[in-house]
Amino acid sequence: MKHIGGKSNRLSGLVPVMLDISNGSRQARAQQRLTRARAVAAASVETAGGDDGFPQQAFPTGGKQRINNLRGGFRLRQRPFSETAFSFATAYPFLAGANLGHKGAYIGEDVYGGGAFVFDPWELYEAKVITGMSMILMGAVGSGKSTCAKSVVCRLVMLGRKALILADRKGEWDVVAQFLGGHTIKVGPGQPDRVNPLDEGIRPSVTPDGEPMTDLRWAAMVRAKRLNLLQTIGEILLDRAVQGAEHTALSMALDLTVESAAPGVPTLPGFIEHLRQMSVSTDGSRSVAEAAERLLHAFSRCTQGDLKGMFDGETTANFDPELPIITVNTKALVGASKEARKIAYACTGSWAESMVTNSDSGQRLCVYEEGWDSVSDEASLTRMMEAWKLARDYGIFNVLIIHKLGDLDIAGDAGSKMAAMARSLLGDTTVKVIYRQETANLAVTERELGLTRAEREDVNRSAQGTGLWKVGPYRTVSVKNQRTTAEVPVFDTDNKMRSNRGGEVAA
Ligand SMILES: Nc1ncnc2c1ncn2[C@@H]1O[C@H](COP(=O)(O)OP(=O)(O)O)[C@@H](O)[C@H]1O
Ligand SMILES: [Mg+2]
Repeated sequence: MKHIGGKSNRLSGLVPVMLDISNGSRQARAQQRLTRARAVAAASVETAGGDDGFPQQAFPTGGKQRINNLRGGFRLRQRPFSETAFSFATAYPFLAGANLGHKGAYIGEDVYGGGAFVFDPWELYEAKVITGMSMILMGAVGSGKSTCAKSVVCRLVMLGRKALILADRKGEWDVVAQFLGGHTIKVGPGQPDRVNPLDEGIRPSVTPDGEPMTDLRWAAMVRAKRLNLLQTIGEILLDRAVQGAEHTALSMALDLTVESAAPGVPTLPGFIEHLRQMSVSTDGSRSVAEAAERLLHAFSRCTQGDLKGMFDGETTANFDPELPIITVNTKALVGASKEARKIAYACTGSWAESMVTNSDSGQRLCVYEEGWDSVSDEASLTRMMEAWKLARDYGIFNVLIIHKLGDLDIAGDAGSKMAAMARSLLGDTTVKVIYRQETANLAVTERELGLTRAEREDVNRSAQGTGLWKVGPYRTVSVKNQRTTAEVPVFDTDNKMRSNRGGEVAA
């Protein structure tokens, strides 16, 4: 270190000279000024000799050897200062927030706090940090949303939770399911998995009211579920609501199908056969026969048309609720007809519902990957609303991944029921994670989520893999998501691009 105190020491001898200036004659004062100027010049020459223009050290380290120079052999060094995040939050209320505690899975580094950021929604709910069990993850393409969701899912599954990934349009979760010992269901034209809309689903041990499940109650619930799903499929295929006598025809054909299939599983071909018989029958009402004929034409598409092979038989997909993770790969549906997509969502959604509403199957994360796709489908959106409202009762935590808040508007025109439903999801979401946004979307995000200017700047500057977590009403943490070496090849969505560029192996 350069010593820069030498100059004032050397000038200290001038003080009497300067004091004398006020006395004496003009000539004497001029002489004194000259002496002082020379002394100053000499002092600066003595101290400014360094090549780098800085004053050179004039005294040995520890001070010049003379009595009472007040220089010792020690250096004054400030002790490091540490304090708890809680105290800092009190002392600097607008700068540092209290952290979220240590219970949960490690997600990454708290960029400003410098510590680890851990997350477990069930623990946070218990600690009353959050009051709802849903999260929205938003960010531009490639900002790191899926990687973040995969970190949360993988690490919480390793801590004993389960996960269900719906609407994985890119099939990027297949490898995650493999990594965690789970299963992937592939639906779509030409895919090996078939989903039967008339399945019973998974029988829970208790009713939604907490009563033991009796055979009678279960039979009533299964009938209601089958009717509901058949009605949804009918509406998709007819492209309008199921009306009047069509309801009667639907429920009569269902009852006949279940009866004739017992003790086996009823399937759509059986249901269609009963519709056909009803349409030519002269025993019952004419309007029911006509309604059955209309439904027959619509449902026949499932066994003959472009939907053939997807829903027309017993379920082959493995919806085992004991598996740690199940992912629904809908990649094959990209480019399929609108009806195929909607029916596939309705059928897999119905299975998912029976899995998540079953309190026997434990705490589960439900991830809507590419969530804008689910939001734009009415049946899926209705299910999501239910899942959002009842997440606490079901023991689930919902994660909706979207690019921007505007994606919620895809649900329907302004003022429509669908648009209102999609918006209400946002209102019921207590954890919002904001990754880098396109500039055009930033202002909307800022306004709708009530970001402060500093938070907006933070989002604007976010690097890939870093996001702003708003947890509950008061906690905001900027988190750099970290991946382990084992996770990198499992999470990386760039693998394909790299291999397409000439077989380069991912990190
Ligand atoms: N936390 C992270 N650390 C390092 N790289 C990351 C991180 N998050 C994302 N990436 C990189 O960005 C790529 C795209 O991330 P991804 O999560 O698929 O983005 P998004 O889902 O937002 O489109 C990943 O394949 C990876 O290479
Ligand atoms: Mg993604």
